[in-house]
Amino acid sequence: MNTYSAFTGILKYIFGYILVASLISCNTEQNTRVQSPDNNMVLNFYVSETGEANYEISYKDELIIERSKLGYLFKNQPSLTDGFEIAGITRSSVQENWEPVWGDKIDIHNHYNEMHIELRENEEPGRELHLRFRAFDDGIGFRYEFQEQAGVDSLFVMDEITEFNLTGDHTAWWIPADYDSYEYLYETTKISEIDASKYEAENERADRWIQNFKAVNTPVTMKSDNGLYMSFHEANLTDYPGMTLAIQEGPILKSELVPWADGTKVKTGNSFVSPWRTIQVTESAGDLLTSDLIVNLNEPNKLEDTSWIEPMKYTGIWWEMHLGKTSWGLEELAEDSYTAGLGREGAHGATTENAMRYIDFNAEAGIAGLLIEGWNTGWEYWGTDSLGFFDFTTPYPDFDLEKVVDYANQHEVQIIGHHETSGQAAPYEERLEPAFELYNSLGIRAVKTGYAGAIVPSGEAHHGQFMVRHYRKVVETAARYKIAINAHEPIKATGIRRTYPNMMTREGVRGMEYNAWSDGNPPEHTTILPFTRGLSGPTDYTPGIFDLLFDEYREDERVHSTLANQLALYVVIYSPHQMAADLPENYKTDGDFHPAFQFIGDVAVDWDETIVPDAEIGDYAVVARKERGEDRWFVGAVTDENERDITLALDFLEDGTAYRAIIYRDGEDAHWESNPYSFGIDEIKVDRNSSIDLNLAAGGGAAIHIEPAE
Ligand code: NOJ
Ligand code: CA
Repeated sequence: MNTYSAFTGILKYIFGYILVASLISCNTEQNTRVQSPDNNMVLNFYVSETGEANYEISYKDELIIERSKLGYLFKNQPSLTDGFEIAGITRSSVQENWEPVWGDKIDIHNHYNEMHIELRENEEPGRELHLRFRAFDDGIGFRYEFQEQAGVDSLFVMDEITEFNLTGDHTAWWIPADYDSYEYLYETTKISEIDASKYEAENERADRWIQNFKAVNTPVTMKSDNGLYMSFHEANLTDYPGMTLAIQEGPILKSELVPWADGTKVKTGNSFVSPWRTIQVTESAGDLLTSDLIVNLNEPNKLEDTSWIEPMKYTGIWWEMHLGKTSWGLEELAEDSYTAGLGREGAHGATTENAMRYIDFNAEAGIAGLLIEGWNTGWEYWGTDSLGFFDFTTPYPDFDLEKVVDYANQHEVQIIGHHETSGQAAPYEERLEPAFELYNSLGIRAVKTGYAGAIVPSGEAHHGQFMVRHYRKVVETAARYKIAINAHEPIKATGIRRTYPNMMTREGVRGMEYNAWSDGNPPEHTTILPFTRGLSGPTDYTPGIFDLLFDEYREDERVHSTLANQLALYVVIYSPHQMAADLPENYKTDGDFHPAFQFIGDVAVDWDETIVPDAEIGDYAVVARKERGEDRWFVGAVTDENERDITLALDFLEDGTAYRAIIYRDGEDAHWESNPYSFGIDEIKVDRNSSIDLNLAAGGGAAIHIEPAE
């Protein structure tokens, strides 16, 4: 600690005590503050004359959050919104570096100043609600810590009052506050214009629910008129419901927790700790992407042995079902309740023979993982009202699980297991142990889970407290069986991967599959994702479709990008399990690999460093990452529906080293709509003084592989 910070530390200490002393004797407004290590972020905390707890935030002397309310409403207790006094203040600072087991960088800097405030009701029963604020250089996190109360054994929270009182009507990138799904396109509007009523029909689905059309899911990212970027989210979501944000007059964002079926928001014992409420604040879009605030607000790794956790690329018996080439279920097995629906067209996909075909492909292509969906009995009832039909230990008769695993082992390919639950979490929980035990006994180290359907118990939401508990139970159980998880229809990522590094990746996004069977994802989608959904954690977007039009299977649907754009996604959208999603025959046709496949084979999935040379949310994004442990860089650039020229300075390269850059780019006449396959590869010599001019086609992109020249 230098002299200056030691001195200010003492001052703060003294100030804290003067404040407490003065509070006890009078009821005028009180305030105290905590600042970030670089002093740019300042959080002011107030207790008003009526004992209301408020905070406000400024960045470089500009107010960015006006006085905002804090507190709780309960079912079995009086509310906790005013009548507070400060019973104590404790301050501390942390500055440390830690290394994630895998990640988008190897060295994470955790540096903050903390202010812990003990609030106490000034009347009986004198309940205590503590607030813990952490000020980082790139944002603020705070959480509630409700203290144990004598004579109370359970608490039912009906509302968390947390407000974010904005200072302007910023431009926001948002998705609706669906309690069950994050699978939406991002809208770009002023905050005051947020309105999801066009999605009203979604509420007819059993697996969607938008309660408030003027509310959003998090992360929600904004840009102010002054060019400041802000993103609102939460960290360490544990045994608590997910938070959505309602838009109120002001504009004010107000916490709206996803309720239980009976309307209660949080059910706990006599004390609880909320997740961190987070605000990331940066001067560029790129700095949002590289911020580590969310993971820093999570607890360190709890797993002793992590040697079995492996970032990898994978293929899957997957896209073929989404295209309708094959099906998940074996129709012959279905009884009368069988109804025609998604995934029941065509022949069964997960056969022993087909799995072996994929394994052969992976072995030759050097892709480590193979996901196999539709291998177990139960799929024939998917979409029906039957209960608990998925059997996680019984393969279909045409799928010899052991033979497939043996064949994979011989070819050094790892099978990725699959547990689709169709949302039936309760029956799944009952079968969790044997399900993971089976995979573990076969040496399977990764499982994709799925919740595509309404939650059982009926009435619970994908993002409510019941399911937050469930998803965590699955991650913890999987860890005991040395299995990594890729969750689909998940709860949002909140940095749990730091604590449980077997929680590798998840969906929680309108991914590639939408291009197979809906009007698809427009080109701008992937220029927004890294700065919204991507801020929460790894995204299983499933890139790499080469047969962009797939007319053989679906004439009306298609992928809305160029071929080069598909390659760029491997770098732009971060995931430690990254899929090569297309059919093997589209990567290797008539005995030859597509020249673009080289990039998918080469691109890394675990990184030492991530930088964002250039980006504007909703327009374009350029991301560069250095492979973990190697002097090798991969760059991805994507643009929206507008063609764009970008000059990429290579000043991130090592000084004095000569490199070769292999550039996978759009052809001169490429266009996502009219000419998506036009594509070229250039190889040039570069060093850290070079720059590369990229011409990105409409809906296009570029992917670059840079390594030392021999
Ligand atoms: C939805 C998932 O997102 C998708 O990847 C999966 O193939 C289907 N559910 C079936 O489990
Ligand atoms: Ca999905």
